[in-house]
Amino acid sequence: MNVIENSKLTVVGAGAVGASVAYAALIRGSARHVALYDIAAERVEAEALDLAHGSQFIGASDVVGSSDISVAAGSHVVVITAGAKQEPGQTRTELAGVNARIVRGMLPQLLEVAPDAVYVIVTNPCDVLTVVAAEATSLPRERIFSSGTVLDTSRLRWKLAQRAGVSTSSVHAYIVGEHGDTEFPLWSSATIGTVPILEWEREGHPRMTIDELDRIAAEVRDAAYTVIRGKGATNYAIGLSSARIVEAVLQDQHAVLPVSTVLDDFAGIGGVALSVPSVVSAAGATPIANTPLSPDELEKFRRSADALRPVIDAVAT
Ligand code: 2OP
Repeated sequence: MNVIENSKLTVVGAGAVGASVAYAALIRGSARHVALYDIAAERVEAEALDLAHGSQFIGASDVVGSSDISVAAGSHVVVITAGAKQEPGQTRTELAGVNARIVRGMLPQLLEVAPDAVYVIVTNPCDVLTVVAAEATSLPRERIFSSGTVLDTSRLRWKLAQRAGVSTSSVHAYIVGEHGDTEFPLWSSATIGTVPILEWEREGHPRMTIDELDRIAAEVRDAAYTVIRGKGATNYAIGLSSARIVEAVLQDQHAVLPVSTVLDDFAGIGGVALSVPSVVSAAGATPIANTPLSPDELEKFRRSADALRPVIDAVAT
């Protein structure tokens, strides 16, 4: 990984997710400078110290942590992870009220010190909070988006890769919609290599049926519940997913990633943030308008939007 000279990432929130984003970014060399910001001074300083103690084993990146917002000054990317986390059995949307207040409260100060940054919302419910954050700022909509279903897509590719007997990088499939209970895969365009997913077969790996694929998608949808039940939170995979997004921005990659932006007119849907394959570059994220959707996928996409609208309305100011 080429660490872009002077590139700066600020991670807001030094909980398990924020610390994992910083850790992944340092190990992957996603940014030259990594800053961790949290109002809990002792905690953020300790996390940054713990990360800095591994400096010998990473590349040229450095890390600092502070409860002073000026630590975020001059950031090119700000990843927001601060807020209440899901308790076992709780849905992401149940966190909307409390986390909307937290995100709204911190944005003015962040924008003051990092006016030119691309903002990535990781705090849940990330789609709802993307709408909240976009409305609370005058940033162009491509500069404020959420990690969306990048993580869910990685979960899906891992499972499909195991089943198909190939590496995850050879699986081309996306989860789209809400990062949550109404998310769904785009099976109509999914391929292994260049082979449509339902036609893939090789020795020891028979063809998959649509029922089996749907079972895999349900496991992916419920994956966070499974991890939270077992260890109280998810942190490593979201850390890696976020670092990947940061690299797309800092290296101006124009990478196609399923992040969530406030949609204008995507398949006739607007005013709600949902994940769709989007081009991510230094300018931010732009949804790919002509992403093919089957009639069934379009219906599911509408259901995702319908599920989020009342949650967005409930936290509107
Ligand atoms: C996840 O999917 C909880 O949104 C978090 O891991």
